[in-house]
Amino acid sequence: MNSFPLFHQLNNKHCLIVGGGQVALRRAQALLKAGVCIDVVSPVVREQLVDVVKESGGNIDESYFDEISLNKKIENKILANQNYFMMMAATDDTAVNRHVYHCAKKNNILVNVASDQSLCDVVFPAIVDRGATTIAISNNGLSPVLTRVLKEKIERLIPDNYGDLAVFMGKCRAKIKKLIPNTRKRVSFLESIAKGSVAEAVFSGKIDEAEKILQAKLAQETTENIAAEETQQSIIEDPTTDFSYTAEEKSAIYKVMAERRDMRHFNNKPLDEKIFKSILSAAHMAPSVGLMQPWRFVRITHQNIREDIFGAVSEERKLTADALDERKGEFLKLKVEGILQCGELVIAALPEGREQHVFGRRTLPEMDLASLSCAIQNMWLAARAEGIGMGWVSLFDPKKLMEILNMPKGSWPIAILCIGHVDEFYEKPMLLLENWTTEKPLEDMLFENTWHSGKGQNDTDD
Ligand SMILES: Cc1cc2nc3c(=O)[nH]c(=O)nc-3n(C[C@H](O)[C@H](O)[C@H](O)COP(=O)(O)O)c2cc1C
Repeated sequence: MNSFPLFHQLNNKHCLIVGGGQVALRRAQALLKAGVCIDVVSPVVREQLVDVVKESGGNIDESYFDEISLNKKIENKILANQNYFMMMAATDDTAVNRHVYHCAKKNNILVNVASDQSLCDVVFPAIVDRGATTIAISNNGLSPVLTRVLKEKIERLIPDNYGDLAVFMGKCRAKIKKLIPNTRKRVSFLESIAKGSVAEAVFSGKIDEAEKILQAKLAQETTENIAAEETQQSIIEDPTTDFSYTAEEKSAIYKVMAERRDMRHFNNKPLDEKIFKSILSAAHMAPSVGLMQPWRFVRITHQNIREDIFGAVSEERKLTADALDERKGEFLKLKVEGILQCGELVIAALPEGREQHVFGRRTLPEMDLASLSCAIQNMWLAARAEGIGMGWVSLFDPKKLMEILNMPKGSWPIAILCIGHVDEFYEKPMLLLENWTTEKPLEDMLFENTWHSGKGQNDTDD
């Protein structure tokens, strides 16, 4: 990095521009926005610049100048306690520009010479101005065109009233800090605000609505925190039976259930074989209907097969997106798999010949799937306890996967499991963090004696 960007408070500071043309005008307009008081020295000053200088509270010296007279002017200013924080040369006369440079250096003043990068202490960046949010772009004068192209790109990306979001978030910061004291939780909450429906409401100018959504989210977040604390407390305080685990052991069980996450971001650290086998053995401890143990696992070790699987998932991802109609764009932004990044890729499948197992399946044949799901959940929990991430991917056409894996008729692939090291575990389900959906409390799922129609109904995707 050739120069370091610093955002400078310039309100009421004084600046001297030498030159009265177009470049001087552009610089003066930019500085006026920052509240700078601008003086101009130039034999000729264009009218618009005169207006800008007047508005800034500065003055114009419409005279010829040389280094001696410049020095004198600055010294007078210093005497009058009006130090210039910066001087700018914006003339097409190289000798004058150099005068300005030397004069600034002599008086320890920052200098910018518009036409000569080598005579600049400071450069003017291209600015994307979004109210309270400012983005400055510079490539140290190497290519002004490239700077402009990048500026246009950024302008297209950042909504006009992005600054309003900064103001909104700035206002609620202290309150959120008080309500969510845990730093990691708070950061993840604030990120969800910056990316989700609260931000959308602010961008469309609906500040009241944004406030309401924020309140609802805060209420949910704080209830979840209280519930988690209560669970921990009840584990410790409850009386134990003769067969119960110790409070510490119980606490670990609930902790792993609460902190297990479906992971889709992996780093490329290879998974230790012992840990991998231990996760598989956790699957094999699962309960199963009639002890049929209907789980089969295909470990993928060939890169080309992994890529074929990725291809099949990518195809289904597009079809799922199309089926989601107006939520298509939103869905496509979600990361729904980590197939190419995870350390180990495993396909969990049901075997052929399942019809021979009648115990517990005569009326409910899907109990084989339920049993395999128990095995997968065991893997998820074991992986989390080992500090390893696992993600369950179901976005695929089973027939395509059967072809790729050469699976026999009657067998059925159920899950693509991505297993591997992660940089961090998501604080909450990704679909919550991404504002795809919301979670419901246990009470909504719990009926008494008979079915409560309408209670606990899930949101649909669309
Ligand atoms: C049967 C099943 C299939 C799933 N399939 C996918 C999938 O294809 N892609 C994905 O991103 N997440 C998938 N998930 C993960 C869920 O979205 C995730 O479990 C849910 O949002 C809750 O998050 P959590 O597991 O971190 O608590 C699946 C989960 C289950 C149980």
